[in-house]
Order: sequence, then C-alpha cells, then structure tokens
Amino acid sequence: MSDATNFSETISAGAASAGARPAAAASPDAAGTAGHAYGRRPQHPNKLLTEVGAGTPMGELLRRYWQPVALSAEVTDLPRKVHILGEELVLFRDRKGRAGLLYPRCMHRGTSLFYGRIEEEGIRCCYHGWLFDTQGRCLDQPCEPDHGRHRDQARQPWYPVEERYGLVFAYLGPPERKPVLPRYDILENVGPDEELYSNIGGFGSTGDPSLDVVPYSWLHMNDNVMDPFHVHVLHSTFTGPQFAAGFLVMPTVDFFYADHGVCYSAHRRLEDGREMKRISTWLMPNIMSVPTIDLLEGSGNMISWVVPVSDSSYRQAMVMKLPRGLGPLTGIRLNGKLWGEMTEEDHQRTPGDYEAQMGQGPISLHSEEHLVTSDRGIIMQRRMLQKQCEIVAGGGNPAGVEFSPDKALVKIRSGNFYAR
Ligand code: FES
Ligand SMILES: [Fe+2]
Repeated sequence: MSDATNFSETISAGAASAGARPAAAASPDAAGTAGHAYGRRPQHPNKLLTEVGAGTPMGELLRRYWQPVALSAEVTDLPRKVHILGEELVLFRDRKGRAGLLYPRCMHRGTSLFYGRIEEEGIRCCYHGWLFDTQGRCLDQPCEPDHGRHRDQARQPWYPVEERYGLVFAYLGPPERKPVLPRYDILENVGPDEELYSNIGGFGSTGDPSLDVVPYSWLHMNDNVMDPFHVHVLHSTFTGPQFAAGFLVMPTVDFFYADHGVCYSAHRRLEDGREMKRISTWLMPNIMSVPTIDLLEGSGNMISWVVPVSDSSYRQAMVMKLPRGLGPLTGIRLNGKLWGEMTEEDHQRTPGDYEAQMGQGPISLHSEEHLVTSDRGIIMQRRMLQKQCEIVAGGGNPAGVEFSPDKALVKIRSGNFYAR
C-alpha cells in the first residue's frame, strides 16, 4: 500500500482509533479562554496496543512470535528470573547445556525454582527435591516411595526456548502455532573479521548498557523507530548533533508497507553535495532494524526487539554484526558522560530517546495525541498491529509468522545508501 494514495484515509482512521481530537480548533477565541486547562477531559492510553498480558489482544499477538529473554552467556547453572509479557518465569541451563524456561512456582507446594539447584538433567526444587527437566517433566520425587510412582504424570508448566545470535528466544504462544525461529540475512554469514555482539536492556534508549529494564511502555520505543523526524530534532537540532551531522538536514520521507512491516526512506542532500537515502525497517510485531547512526554507507548491521516486561516496562534486545574486537560496547557518551552518570539538569539540557519517551509517561495517553503528517509511519504501524490483533483473535496466523524451516530467512532492507 502506498502512503501517498492512502495518506488521508490513514490519518483519519489512525486518529479515530486512537481517539485523537482535531489538531486545530476552528472557533474564535473572543473570550480569550480557548485551550484553558480547567475542566479538560480525562485521557487514556490505547489499551489494545499497550496491554501485553495473556488474554489481551496485543498480549496474544506478541505471544505468536519468538521473543528474546536473555543473553545466552547469562544462562548458567544459577537460575535467573525472567519477567516478560506480564509473566514471571525462571530460566536455567542444565549441566547438559540445555536451556529451560519454567513457571517458577514449584507444582508440589509452590516455592520458587529460582532457589533451585541445577543438575545434569534439570533443576531440583530446594524444598522437597522434585527434579524437573527443561520441558517440565518431573524426573524425581525423592521423598516419595520409589522416588514418586506417579511422577510421570507431573508436569511443571514450561515454554520452549531456542538460542541464536547469542540470545535465548522463548515462545509463549499456543504450542500448536509455534513458528520457526527466524533468521535475518544481515546477521548471517559472519566473516572472519566480524563478530555478532548481543545486548539486552536499556542500551537502545540510553546508549548506556547499565540500564536493565526501561520503565515505560514498549509502544513508546516501537513508535520511535518509524519517526525519522525526531532524529532531526531530538538528536540533532535541539541540543546539537548527538549522532552524525548529516541528521541536521531535514529529510523528505516516504513511508511504505513492506513484507510484514513498515519502512521509511529518508532522503537528504548532505552539505558535501551527496544524496543519501536512509532506509529503516520495522517488522511485526516489535522488531526493528535501524541503520548505523554514523551514516556509513551500506546495509544495516542490527536487529532489535522491544520486548515488553509489563504494560509499562520493557527490555530491548539487539544483535549487531561488528568488526571483530569492537565489542562489547561500553556506551555512548554525551558531553563525556554516560546516561547513568548524567544529572537531572544534564537530562534536561541534553535529552535523548529515554527522556523524550519517559516524558510520555509510563503509558502514553493516546486519546490526547494530535497525530499529524509526520506521524504517518507510526499510524501505519499501529494500524497493522491492530489488524493483526484482529486476525489472531479470529483464529488466524499473524503476518511474518512462518512454520517451515526453509522460510525462516528474513530479508532486511535497512541501510544508508548514497547516489553515485
Ligand atoms: S515445593 Fe518444590 S518440591 Fe516441594
Ligand atoms: Fe531516537
């Protein structure tokens, strides 16, 4: 669908679905009271897009895709808590090297497997010693006759996991709809001078790897990726260039639906006369590939997932293909400081993505938004998410989900491209 032909319809439909009011009031302001704050109406988030628990439309949509839950290197013989999509889980690796993701309350009498002990075949509960494998099968009940004559019938709730690109992915959806774990062309074929660097936490919003959980809705960051205009303002003209100087140029932007997502193509004529086209990609339902912010020529090198922890928090996982020896990344500094080292005044004087998005609140009040022409990429994303929620609720499979291994490879269009 071309946004050029559907733009008006897209704006009106998107604004209506978000409950937005018209951007400009036409009535004269003879009394000088127009816009007065007193008596304004209560406002509310778009629940359909922001609620992620099991049984909610968006929660069920997100559960139909593999979601990264941890770095593979973090999964050791010490169980770790995983909080995702409003669920508390426990992740571990048995001594055979298999990762397992279980509901944490032991099915016997409910203590947490977070305090369990890792063994060759699984995790043993600390309280009465029931042993569970990575798929929740109960292998031992040491206090029972014959170590539990009926232990085969016991099953601790579990989710499947797979590992790729240095991340552990989990599938939290209906088992009969489990898709193949995707591959991304830009992360494949790692050369001898390259390596994959993976990260999970708040690096994407702060440039600081020390932040683990970002305390606001996943949708704020999801909106951000189809918002090339904030790169020109927030990251460039507002405080001076935070990325490359080329972003100081206001782009002309095309948004278009592609494959199972939305892309933008931002065109700029740089000061040195070169024409640059920057293509950024968002894929259903929470996946993005942003090209390098140094504007170096070439295809994108990064895939990222904005994974909700709860309705009002998320962790962002990312995998980058980098020259060997460059990682792990130590962080991006503004005026010599990492985000976590900045004072409140620093945050005010040099706001970045975190400040802009945190400023929207834990969950934005979408009913009071005034979506305009520069928001059309966001509108297209939200419409696609809404439509796919309806497809899932109707029993269908959402866009971008594949079941055959030979369809696992996803082609990514992102990159910085220069005219010759
Ligand atoms: S509570 Fe886990 S074995 Fe008893
Ligand atoms: Fe940004």
